[in-house]
Amino acid sequence: MSNSNRVVVITGGGAGIGLAIAQAFAENDDQVAILDLSQEKLDQASESHKNIHGFACDIQNETMIKETIHAVHEQLGTIDVLINNAGLQRIHTVEEFPLEDWNLVVGTILTGTFLMTKYALPDMQQSKWGRIITISSSHGRRPDMYKSAYIAAKYGQIGFTNTVAMENAQNGITANSILPGPTQTTLIQNQLSELAEEDCTTEQEALETHILGAQWMKELVQPEEIASLALFLASDGAAKITGEAIGVTSGE
Ligand SMILES: NC(=O)c1ccc[n+]([C@@H]2O[C@H](COP(=O)([O-])OP(=O)(O)OC[C@H]3O[C@@H](n4cnc5c(N)ncnc54)[C@H](O)[C@@H]3O)[C@@H](O)[C@H]2O)c1
Repeated sequence: MSNSNRVVVITGGGAGIGLAIAQAFAENDDQVAILDLSQEKLDQASESHKNIHGFACDIQNETMIKETIHAVHEQLGTIDVLINNAGLQRIHTVEEFPLEDWNLVVGTILTGTFLMTKYALPDMQQSKWGRIITISSSHGRRPDMYKSAYIAAKYGQIGFTNTVAMENAQNGITANSILPGPTQTTLIQNQLSELAEEDCTTEQEALETHILGAQWMKELVQPEEIASLALFLASDGAAKITGEAIGVTSGE
């Protein structure tokens, strides 16, 4: 397999880390299918590069996933690379965590990763080459208060991805997780007010306590810095890296 001209599927590719990964693969002359809930984000991203193609898909919905994988295969060809990236956050203490919010977070992050992998794998097994890259989190190996659903899902993604790696080790397919530390996207920005409310502090103090406090460099990671690792893990140079969980965290 060459290190370009591949078909790459990215969930949550309409914004933040997913969009940066889409742009990196598109610049690398790969054909990139981005899946997202928001048609507006899909349209904007597709207009930003001729190699980016938008597909409206809720990755909690098995039927939509099956139809979307089929559509990507028909329009772009055999799927070579899957990036499980879509995610979201909900902030509550465990005893106040609504089941609806728990199911939304776990259903998107963990079950979405399972379903996307399940339906993308047959193409890779057929061609005896594939790369599965799961965007977990530094919260996949370290807890934080009020994020129990997110943290359960992020730990779970790593275990799931490593199982996929083991099951497909002799199929030319690798599966690895990237663990970003706090990264400059709206996902971080949107949670500061709720963290401050839970702690009875200011947003600036919440940023320090929950986000920058644990980082050695005291600098948010940039989405492009996650994208460059994803591009490497998808290359032939990374053929023997599988079942790994690699941090991009500014130190922690
Ligand atoms: N930003 C951070 O600090 C950070 C740190 C560690 C890990 N991560 C992880 O990186 C991934 C991307 O995060 P981000 O910061 O870019 O978030 P973001 O909110 O900027 O983008 C997430 C995208 O996922 C999409 N999405 C959400 N639910 C979806 C669904 N059901 N189906 C399809 N698309 C859906 C959203 O519409 C959005 O475009 C997430 O898995 C997140 O947990 C982020």
